[in-house]
Amino acid sequence: MADTPLRSRKSYGKADKDGFIHRSWIKATGLPDHAFDGRPVIGIANTWSELVTCQVGLRDLAEYVKRGIWEAGGVPIEFPAMSLPETQMRPTAMLFRNLLAMEVEESIRANPIDGVVLLGGCDKTTPGLLMGAASVDLPAIFVSSGPMLNGKFQGRDLGSGTDVWRFSEAVRAGEISLETFMAAESGMSRSAGVCNTMGTASTMASLTEALGIALPMNAALPAVDSRRKVLAHMSGRRIVELVRDDVRPSQIMTRAAFENAILMHAAVGGSTNAVVHLLALAGRLGVPLTLDDFDALAREVPLLVNLMPSGRYLMEDFCYAGGAPAVARELGELYRREALTVSGQTQGEIADAAEVWNREVIGTRAEPFGASSGLWVLRGNLCPRGAILKPSAASPNLLVHRGRAVVFESIEDYHARIDDPDLEVDEASILVLKGCGPKGYPGMPEVGNMGLPPRLLARGVTDMIRISDARMSGTAYGTVILHVAPEAEDGGVLALVRSGDEIAFDGPARRLELLVDESELDRRRAAWEAGRPPSPHSRGWYRLYVERVQQADLGADLDFLVGGSGATVERESH
Ligand code: FES
Repeated sequence: MADTPLRSRKSYGKADKDGFIHRSWIKATGLPDHAFDGRPVIGIANTWSELVTCQVGLRDLAEYVKRGIWEAGGVPIEFPAMSLPETQMRPTAMLFRNLLAMEVEESIRANPIDGVVLLGGCDKTTPGLLMGAASVDLPAIFVSSGPMLNGKFQGRDLGSGTDVWRFSEAVRAGEISLETFMAAESGMSRSAGVCNTMGTASTMASLTEALGIALPMNAALPAVDSRRKVLAHMSGRRIVELVRDDVRPSQIMTRAAFENAILMHAAVGGSTNAVVHLLALAGRLGVPLTLDDFDALAREVPLLVNLMPSGRYLMEDFCYAGGAPAVARELGELYRREALTVSGQTQGEIADAAEVWNREVIGTRAEPFGASSGLWVLRGNLCPRGAILKPSAASPNLLVHRGRAVVFESIEDYHARIDDPDLEVDEASILVLKGCGPKGYPGMPEVGNMGLPPRLLARGVTDMIRISDARMSGTAYGTVILHVAPEAEDGGVLALVRSGDEIAFDGPARRLELLVDESELDRRRAAWEAGRPPSPHSRGWYRLYVERVQQADLGADLDFLVGGSGATVERESH
């Protein structure tokens, strides 16, 4: 056990006016005298809100965390953190991930707590909470809200998001009626919890286990499963022990832990959004991690998990099949087994204790559900700082392709023209979307998986190459090239693409080239720079964000938030 003095004692341990003020006011919550006898004070950062149905169970779950904290001899104090409802916020929840990270960082640092339990779930809350906690580096543990139950409609399973995209394309192609489509919405989301597919939320929850910052099965236990309450309880117990032993996020989320996260990401067919989140989180911790690590580390990892959007099943099935620990077991010697976790066990010990209960859901490396499923990181004059593609969600026949660009200058331009029967487009065309990067939108929305032109859908075309500086939903699929860096708004070559230009994509060679000669690009650049309008973002968070946000290849964190400031605040509270 470490002999580290608790930082909460600086506030609650003093027999003077200052200590009086700290204790007296917090006692108004009902805390007894003995709560201040030197026990660890544990903050619970809760992103619960009624706006985020994905996390609507967190208010309840926090009570089980508190039970565990009390039981282990700590004192729980819950506080709110910004909720980021993926399906409700405009213009995109991603615009506010860094704001949540700032809020939670300063909340942890400014208050007299010794460790923190992070309660989140919906896509951006997991990275936002982790980034903030990483920059303070007090002991921390993550508890996710858990996935919702499988969607059910007309006798079949419905996957969050994935079946929305599928059904809406079917409506546009005239295959199902609008009434049927609308009727499906009640069956898709029928309990508290995050999206039931391996979308961004469940990807990030799986990665909390791979990073070692959450207890085993944190990702897969359904939100409404009583065992999630037990996991919350046990997380409450563990955080007190982590404080007593002074085990910090920087000791858990090491380079080896990030390598495990990349391996797990590939094995589960995880969301492309995890790339920007892991890069940003690594930046907070000073862990060297680049875009190329995603491509290089995961080349030998096949798709081991048969979940939508890359496969067939849903998160409930993943839970019953063994969850992330069972995937770790199947990764075998590829996994960094020596990496420590907040459970006190190594990753190897957790993997050894796991079993696979359903081979339809979790396969083996010898018999996987797909070939190499990591991300492809592309380079070329169209994306000198990188772009990504998820090959497990793409069409094999499009992985090497040349086509003419059909360009949309903004997502509004896309919506205005995509249904136009006179749009000059065929199945060999490449749809190009600009203005959707971190600065351009702002916030880098999930619009990269543009729907196809109805004329082509009606002819049975189900996929085309799409290129943008946007992200796409973790529940989406298709041959979609994302996160082009630099983005159009930052002066990337993407800004210079015109309809009719030829683009060459070679996935296996990781190349993406705009086949326009340099002198022509120089002319276009001069015209683009001369015609730029002034920024419409003159104040507040939007202004700070567009002025300081980094490009996608660096995780889209604000430049001045990279790294950490530790937990020390020298000045007294007045
Ligand atoms: Fe919250 Fe999918 S919308 S997890």
